[in-house]
Amino acid sequence: MKKVVPSTIIVGAQWGDEGKGKMVDFLAERIDIVVRYNGGCNAGHTVKVGNKVFKLHLIPSGVVQRKIAVIGNGVVIDPKVLVEEVESLKNEGIKLNLLISYKAHVTMPYHKIFDKRKEAKRKEVKIGTTGRGIGPTYADKMKRTEAIRILDLVSEHFSEKLLRILELKVLELLEFGLIKSKDELEDYRKKIIKEYSLYIEKIKEFVFDTSLFLNKSLDEGRTILFEGAQGSLLDVEHGTYPFVTSSNTTAGGACTGTGVGPKRIDKVIGIAKAYTTRVGFGPFPTELNNDIGEFLREKGKEYGTTTGRPRRCGWLDTVILRYAKRINSLDELVLTKLDVLSGIKKLKICTAYELKGKVMKEFPTSISALEKCKPLYIELDGWKEFDGNELKEILRKGFKALPKNAKTYVNKIKELVGIPITIISVGPEREETIVLKD
Ligand code: GDP
Ligand code: IMO
Ligand code: MG
Repeated sequence: MKKVVPSTIIVGAQWGDEGKGKMVDFLAERIDIVVRYNGGCNAGHTVKVGNKVFKLHLIPSGVVQRKIAVIGNGVVIDPKVLVEEVESLKNEGIKLNLLISYKAHVTMPYHKIFDKRKEAKRKEVKIGTTGRGIGPTYADKMKRTEAIRILDLVSEHFSEKLLRILELKVLELLEFGLIKSKDELEDYRKKIIKEYSLYIEKIKEFVFDTSLFLNKSLDEGRTILFEGAQGSLLDVEHGTYPFVTSSNTTAGGACTGTGVGPKRIDKVIGIAKAYTTRVGFGPFPTELNNDIGEFLREKGKEYGTTTGRPRRCGWLDTVILRYAKRINSLDELVLTKLDVLSGIKKLKICTAYELKGKVMKEFPTSISALEKCKPLYIELDGWKEFDGNELKEILRKGFKALPKNAKTYVNKIKELVGIPITIISVGPEREETIVLKD
């Protein structure tokens, strides 16, 4: 196993669901602290250990390895989901060591309603949000005058602040039918206070200055994993805007979202599936609306962890991976779900796009250009399904025991992206992982 550096960012290199949860759990074994830095309960990170499956939305995946779990200031927190997650982990016998940033923003009941109803009203540009109130919570954060942070939630002035904010939002509350007239505002506030008081009681013990804690921990020689949510192509700045989420999913978000400066980051690891998936709307050049796409969806169990929606599936796209390498300064790549490709006779990898007769190796700057891009592929021979014994052999002997064509497939990605591939995942279980030698 490689030497552990003090701080490592784990970031999705595609459109999310790359297997970040599994890899964070795998890597956390030798780490002290795992911190989430962006997104909210739109994320769904799966960790499978034996016959137990954990689906984490807000608490970092390192919790399954009983590591210190931190929710950074860049995360938006739905207290209802957080409390449910805390309870369900406790029921699994996991003793929590959780710290929540007092600066993290809070998703309120109206954010969730606004998210769903605004999405339903959209005609041309539907995003396909998860309906978890993520966009409206971040919008209020940026607006600055209508936001509630964790520190407000646990303060004695929460109720007053909420009233001020509801007054500012009265027109929207009326428009979306949360109140029928202004006279109902007070009752609406009381309803929220009643519900949220239950959560506050359960959350307040975890609230902390997490930036101070993380920096001190590094000073004292402890190690940290920064667990990104979503994927690079969903980043609000660098993704396929407007078909993105509302946070910085890329590596830079780890610094702003935790209060740990960029000079303290030692390594950035991108997680990529051996093919590509996307949930929600927006361009996806290598999408397969055919039998192979269906095969990937069924074999890869490509249904959303949070919403259960079928994921769109397609060939691996190295234009995207090179772009992810650039915008995250990736040091290395982890390739997941290689096992899912077994049994496909011919595999394709997208090496570049064609736009108006020109070959484009770089990711286009405009969404309208991306929509018109045609993927250019190379074709490689596939390999047959490996049975239980072959898998055991692969896990025992490592990369060299993979079928020849699988090794060629991996090496081709390494060459096309220009990045070392350090870990390959061949199954959802923690142990179904191959660490490549230096
Ligand atoms: P995340 O959001 O990036 O954490 O990914 P998700 O948990 O939403 O989706 C990844 C899914 O693939 C989960 O169901 C994982 O259990 C599963 N998974 C992860 N790695 C592998 C792998 O190498 N092979 C297979 N077959 N499944 C995997
Ligand atoms: P993890 O962390 C995949 C997608 C939604 C939608 C867009 C905006 O599990 O990889 P939002 O609710 O965030 O406003 O939706 O972003 N999306 C994800 N897709 N994985 C995720 O998280 C996602 N989180 C949001 O499907 O297209
Ligand atoms: Mg997911």
